[in-house]
Amino acid sequence: MSLNFFRARLAFAALLALPAATPAQDLAPEDAARRIADIVALAVAEYELGVSDGRIMRLEEVQEARLFLDDARRSAERLPASVRTLTRQAIERLIAGVAALDDPGALRLEVDSLRAHLERGLGIALDPMPQNPPSLARGAVLYERACAQCHGALGRGDGPAAPGLDPPPGDLTASALREVAPVEFFRKVNVGVAGTAMPAFGAQMSLDDRWAVALHASALRWRGAPRERGQALLARCPECLTVVSDFALTAGATDDSLRALVATMTGVADSVALDALVAYARVAAAAEELGGDRVLGVTRTVARVREAVERAAALGRAGQMERAAQAALDAYLVFEGIESGLRARDPGTAIRVERAFAELRAAFNDPARRDVNAARSEVESALDAVVAGASGGGAPGLLFGQSLVIILREGLEAILIIGALTTFLVKAGAPERRRDIGKGVGLALLASLVTALGFATVFRAAVAQREVVEGVTMLVAAAVLFWVSYWLVSKIEVQKWQSFVRERMRAALGSGRRWALAGVAFLAVYREGFETVLFYAALVANADGSMPALAGIGGGLAAGGAVLAALYVAMQRYSVRIPLKPFFAATSALLYVMAFSFAGQGVAELQEVGWIGVTPLDWFPALPALGLFPTMQTALSQLVFAVALLAALAWVFWLEPRVARARA
Ligand code: HEC
Repeated sequence: MSLNFFRARLAFAALLALPAATPAQDLAPEDAARRIADIVALAVAEYELGVSDGRIMRLEEVQEARLFLDDARRSAERLPASVRTLTRQAIERLIAGVAALDDPGALRLEVDSLRAHLERGLGIALDPMPQNPPSLARGAVLYERACAQCHGALGRGDGPAAPGLDPPPGDLTASALREVAPVEFFRKVNVGVAGTAMPAFGAQMSLDDRWAVALHASALRWRGAPRERGQALLARCPECLTVVSDFALTAGATDDSLRALVATMTGVADSVALDALVAYARVAAAAEELGGDRVLGVTRTVARVREAVERAAALGRAGQMERAAQAALDAYLVFEGIESGLRARDPGTAIRVERAFAELRAAFNDPARRDVNAARSEVESALDAVVAGASGGGAPGLLFGQSLVIILREGLEAILIIGALTTFLVKAGAPERRRDIGKGVGLALLASLVTALGFATVFRAAVAQREVVEGVTMLVAAAVLFWVSYWLVSKIEVQKWQSFVRERMRAALGSGRRWALAGVAFLAVYREGFETVLFYAALVANADGSMPALAGIGGGLAAGGAVLAALYVAMQRYSVRIPLKPFFAATSALLYVMAFSFAGQGVAELQEVGWIGVTPLDWFPALPALGLFPTMQTALSQLVFAVALLAALAWVFWLEPRVARARA
């Protein structure tokens, strides 16, 4: 379950929407109620992580839950009298339930009824935020499916079902909607519009889907607007990007208030430029904008955490220790937005941040005996470690080397095969048919290019599911790499493959059809091309969009290409021979190491989206570049590879020769 996004909105919704110094105590009833509703939900979520079948599995999570409930109990004092007593009772029941290790399901029901009670008592809507940043792509698909028949494909209110309706479906591109925030769209999607044809989707779509379609629908009026220009303008102001990528803030903002916000932050006054800024700010919090670049997402969140820590410190300096402790909790809640991803990649740092924040809160609560400044600087340096780890994404030097090995090995294999084919033709007395081979090779290169484009498209289209696509690609690449390196270890690969191709050639020559000959060449080269594309897709996924890492991969590709070209010329002109055995032994060992790291990295990607669980192994080294992560699941996947290698080596060097000898 990914509660991160929902957790994260908590503190900074209040922080950003209100003047900086406003402490939790002075919240408006609506904001206080929202904070309480969110905190108790978070407490129960933590509790669920820590308890299973009435037994405590992870004590820290349960303690965290208690702490959150204590905070909620204190905050409840600030609610209006009309809802205070019942809220207090509900929180006491939750505290008792946690103490008695009750079934989490019962506690969740308690949270739901508390939320409903607050909504009724205060006459407000405590809209649940999505659990993950809403995806525009997903929203577009849902809109097409569920809304377009009435509102029209472009939202102009002219869908095929529109003519018979009274009142007619609204024009979602109307300029009057500048006054309507996405959260209003969400409410209408949720409950429909009574007395009209507008249906309620609350029961049919998941929470995240309803938000996705609401965001898509409310961005329709910005279709075709110069979003890119707005993005470029905002990029000059990192703090502005941080603010507008907070969906909790933009979801509640009308276009006019967004415009006022970006105008103040950027100092831009030109109306056309402001339109562009709003057009981008409207969608800046979408998964596509955040999720496509994990490093950016982490950096933005950490910036928000630091701001919140600074607020807590300011309260501490003013001697308001209880408020400071509360603000430190709010800062930690912002961090929760990236916590599960971090836990999968680098559990050591995740734990370090968690402890640092616990210490900071303890220091605020007991400043006489603890050192607030030391606690604060530990929080800061733990956050530094988070950012440093995020931008790692594979060391550029290492990626350069891996990229070089892949292109050299696959390219050389292709060259050897083409060489063998031409030699064969010459020997067979048909040198004029070399052109057919050229055709096959050209087609194979083209097909490889198309395959590469296909991969790139899949990666781009699957932004919301990016980790899944990347994880699966890495695991497939790991398996194929293992296979290739296995055959190399057995040293028969090239000869075997070449003799297979030669046989085909003989058949093709015999049949006299020129496309048959081109087909053989195509087959031989495309096989290498396909492998190359697959391996590069896995490498690029590993680079995480970081520029130095991508440059490393590109550099390796270019350097390898140059070496290959030189080798080809040398082999053709001067009949240089390459010592094949050592070459293939060395490259296959390197490929094996790569397969090993892809296996760990692939599992780590899937852990990030929750497809695979995370069981920390604190003693295990963390070396993401080599696919080493301190979790049981990643380590196990690599153990499988290690065992498979040992088995392969035993077979090739020990068992197979024995069998062969026995037969002989
Ligand atoms: C069966 C037809 C129908 C479908 C399907 C439908 N709507 Fe509506 N919708 C309407 C009608 C009719 C209204 C006008 C209500 C009114 O006039 O107050 C409306 C109003 C709205 C409004 C309010 C517009 C305004 O001017 O305030 C929004 C927002 C909206 N719909 C979004 C959606 C979304 C998003 C979907 C898909 C998830 C959707 N609708 C699906 C018929 C439909």
